[in-house]
Amino acid sequence: MISRGYRTEICNVLVIGSGGAGLRAAIEAHEEGCEVMVIGKRVRNDAHTALASGGINAALGNVDPEDDWIQHFVDTYQDGYFIADPETVEVLVKEAPDRVNELVDWGASFAVNDEGELDQRFFGAHTYRRTCYAGDYTGRVILTTLLDKVSELNIPIRDMIYVSKLLVSEKDGNRLCFGALAFDIVSGERCVYLADSVILAAGGHTRIWRRSSSRRDENTGDAMRLALEAGCQLSDMEMVQFHPTGMVHPESLAGTLVTEAVRGEGGILTNSIGERFMQNYDKERMELSTRDRVALANYSEIIEGRGTENNGVLLNISHLGKEKIMEKLPRMYRQFMESQMLDISKSPMEVAPTAHYSMGGVVVDPKTQSTRVKGLYAAGECTAGLHGANRLGGNSLAEILVFGKIAGEEAAKFSDSLEVQIRDKSIIVSANKELDLLTSEGENLARPLQRKVRDIMWKHCGVVRSGEGLSTGLKKLKEVKVASMDVDVRPSAEGYIDLALALDLLGSIESAEATIKSALQREESRGAHQRVDYPELSEKEVVNYLIEMENGQQKISTRKVKNVRSELVKPLSRFSELGVNGRLLE
Ligand code: FUM
Repeated sequence: MISRGYRTEICNVLVIGSGGAGLRAAIEAHEEGCEVMVIGKRVRNDAHTALASGGINAALGNVDPEDDWIQHFVDTYQDGYFIADPETVEVLVKEAPDRVNELVDWGASFAVNDEGELDQRFFGAHTYRRTCYAGDYTGRVILTTLLDKVSELNIPIRDMIYVSKLLVSEKDGNRLCFGALAFDIVSGERCVYLADSVILAAGGHTRIWRRSSSRRDENTGDAMRLALEAGCQLSDMEMVQFHPTGMVHPESLAGTLVTEAVRGEGGILTNSIGERFMQNYDKERMELSTRDRVALANYSEIIEGRGTENNGVLLNISHLGKEKIMEKLPRMYRQFMESQMLDISKSPMEVAPTAHYSMGGVVVDPKTQSTRVKGLYAAGECTAGLHGANRLGGNSLAEILVFGKIAGEEAAKFSDSLEVQIRDKSIIVSANKELDLLTSEGENLARPLQRKVRDIMWKHCGVVRSGEGLSTGLKKLKEVKVASMDVDVRPSAEGYIDLALALDLLGSIESAEATIKSALQREESRGAHQRVDYPELSEKEVVNYLIEMENGQQKISTRKVKNVRSELVKPLSRFSELGVNGRLLE
């Protein structure tokens, strides 16, 4: 390590996160003529995108020619319970077809129909078949295609690099992001990345629940912590999607995704008394109802004593036959065979809700993905605006491509507009000091504290919530926060993993606090946010809750949702006969 204690790397656009959103952003910024650098805390082909299974939405109309972007808008906005940003939704649904076609041009091997066009399957709550797919390895195929493109363009990626702080200077009340401080998780080497603009694409915070479809050290809320500390606002943090079908055993894999494509291909849910219970929750759409409804239905069946011994319900796809299962759902076949010795072409799977997707996150402009900190952009799961209170399956993979591209383009424009590159030394020095302070011996270990956070969130801020439970959760979280100030971090033969875990913990605590505070404020039941003490939708809650830092504390405020532009009001009202009232089923 050099005497100053860190290396310096300089680029035009720095991308934090090597998942789908980050890679798509990097490609675009490069195409715009920028020198781009991508850094990620995992190895490049193992980003969470690889776990996305069932598909990506684009209103191509290949299978159902009636489909178009307006219907995709209606489905997304309406089943987001009217608190999404309509402009964001419109950008997504209009641009998704181009992003999918472009990916195919770059070599993505999606399934095709007999006419040689991209095949499209049903996903929950979509009016038409619009989900393109590659078996149940869609995310993996997308990630590989993007990585090949990045490599063809010689865009550098640095693996196993953990960002501890965004570098932000402040002048006359204006904040400007000029890079990030990071360290190598293996060697501990620190590096100051100086950049004209920075794109945050570091994922969500759903690993902070006990049962989650994310793996152990991903989606720990790092992006939310970095953004808050930089001066950004977070929105809709209470809106966390619980996927209806996660594995229930073995314990080490509990929460692992069982793709919605199983239901899209005809999977049937039953309880322990053999009843196809979705008929009691959404008679019309049954298993292909919205995710919030199916998750709540599964949860209610289990809580009310009609679940299996392992606290699950049964999902059966055996009627499809082994050949079709191997064609459409090969990952699911392997997953159950390898972990449970269960042949899903013969027996049903046991499933239960699992924390799956952060629908809230950093507030960005829908047209530019810019945050309120100059030079700082965000894209993908760490952002808010698209999903409202419920996300349609398949919209996330579309989101990372559409908004990744926009973020890359806009960050490049910003870079072009700069006369000089900022390098505020005092900010760099203080970011390094913070990291020094964290790298010290202490009484507590990060992993057990992280586990406490997960237990708190699962128990007090899960599928169904109450004011009392949320308040208790917040109190317990404060105790963990105090303990987190005395965490043992010492480099060892295993490298600087302790330091990464300590920072993961800080991200988890910060994002958990924002989630509970927002959930306490929202006194109603809407989509993924179900309150026993407020079981109905409330007119006064057609708002977004915003969180920002003020004097080191999280402050919450309210913003009225944006109006839908007049041309889209009519199509919305035509399709809104499916009521959203009376949602709490307990
Ligand atoms: O169930 C799934 O395959 C998940 C897809 C998604 O979250 O978009």
